[in-house]
Amino acid sequence: MRVLVIGSGAREHALCLALSRDPGVRHIVCAPGNAGTARLAETRSVDPLDPTAVADLADAVDADLVVIGPEAPLVNGAADAVRARGRNAFGPSAAAAAIEGSKAFAKDVMTAAGVPTAGFRRCTTTAEVNAALDEFGPPYVVKHDGLAAGKGVVVTADRAAATKHAEGETVVVEEYLDGPEVSLFGITDGTTVLPMTPAQDFKRVGDGDTGPNTGGMGAYSPLPWAPDDLVETITKTVLQPTVDEMARRGTPFQGLLYAGLALTRNGLKVVEFNARFGDPETQVVLARLRTPLGAVLHAAATGGLEDVTLDWSDDAAVTVVMAALGYPGRPTTGQPIDGLAEAGRVADVLHAGTRLEDGKVLTNGGRVLSVTATGPTREAAREKAYEAVAMIRFPGAHWRTDIAG
Ligand code: AMP
Ligand code: GLY
Repeated sequence: MRVLVIGSGAREHALCLALSRDPGVRHIVCAPGNAGTARLAETRSVDPLDPTAVADLADAVDADLVVIGPEAPLVNGAADAVRARGRNAFGPSAAAAAIEGSKAFAKDVMTAAGVPTAGFRRCTTTAEVNAALDEFGPPYVVKHDGLAAGKGVVVTADRAAATKHAEGETVVVEEYLDGPEVSLFGITDGTTVLPMTPAQDFKRVGDGDTGPNTGGMGAYSPLPWAPDDLVETITKTVLQPTVDEMARRGTPFQGLLYAGLALTRNGLKVVEFNARFGDPETQVVLARLRTPLGAVLHAAATGGLEDVTLDWSDDAAVTVVMAALGYPGRPTTGQPIDGLAEAGRVADVLHAGTRLEDGKVLTNGGRVLSVTATGPTREAAREKAYEAVAMIRFPGAHWRTDIAG
């Protein structure tokens, strides 16, 4: 099988790594890729946001399967464009990706499917925002309706900050959900859902969950504190009803349905849906997956998931994100990175915002690396990940020191 992976984050590096370990995968192309994916895959340039360009590339490399990593290409219709050429795509249509692209649409689907989620109001005027903030009370949760790379949400006790975030935007104001968060991925062919293994993400930039939200600063899996029936419960009450509702609407969801949930005192509630693999959760989930990934994604893309089972390692996996100066604001780029080879002997150093220039690896984005380790216990995996992090140097590098602690 020839696989084309679209994207350039640590998630795509993790996908390329897992695909490279699948004996059924003969060739991998990653576009636009980064300095890390270049070691496992042929690199091609593409504008991921241009569906025609993605489909043209799939034709040019004769891809048997196109795996679309990030949300924005999906929302723009990359999967539709690839399928229109008679090729297999892993990833939802633009219509189905709206489950991530519009918070209001996601809430609609959840209401229709009877999926538990935070109470919410969709607001277009300041008066509506104020009424909703009064109704739910602090801490206030205000979300921009569209895609925002994890940064369109504020959770704050500060009323003025909450109203400011809503200014000039269509927003969803929500009830605050209190409780530990879990991410669970469901691989689906549009009918059958195959749950993966749960992971926890660390969304805030600073230790102790302080500072602004980011795309994710680290993750671990499994979750030893989670109830035994967690995966089964989420599959039954969240993933399957959502997939069924999308099919009922005539916009079947095929690809990866990511459920972000809070385990509240009043039970499980969905915080968000994403239409693709989570980043950095993918790095730890795939580190534990024993089943060849290419075969699973191909089955999802072609509608044969009911015969597939997933096999998981009992090992724990931990990933720590190393970010550039300025992130989650505007990051400084073009800084040389040292110590990669040394760190690579201890952990999988998955690249995100990196590029190669004259054989040297330079920073090229906000989240730069996702340093991923496994071990017989979470503590062992965590120690290895931080040991590798300590070997890597670039000016302004910052990371959380409390991932999986
Ligand atoms: P989202 O973009 O919807 O995933 O939100 C990003 C992060 O904000 C989530 O992972 C949570 O940590 C936090 N968050 C979002 N919605 C809520 C909520 N209703 N209650 C508490 N925290 C939330
Ligand atoms: N780690 C959160 C996300 O992928 O949206």
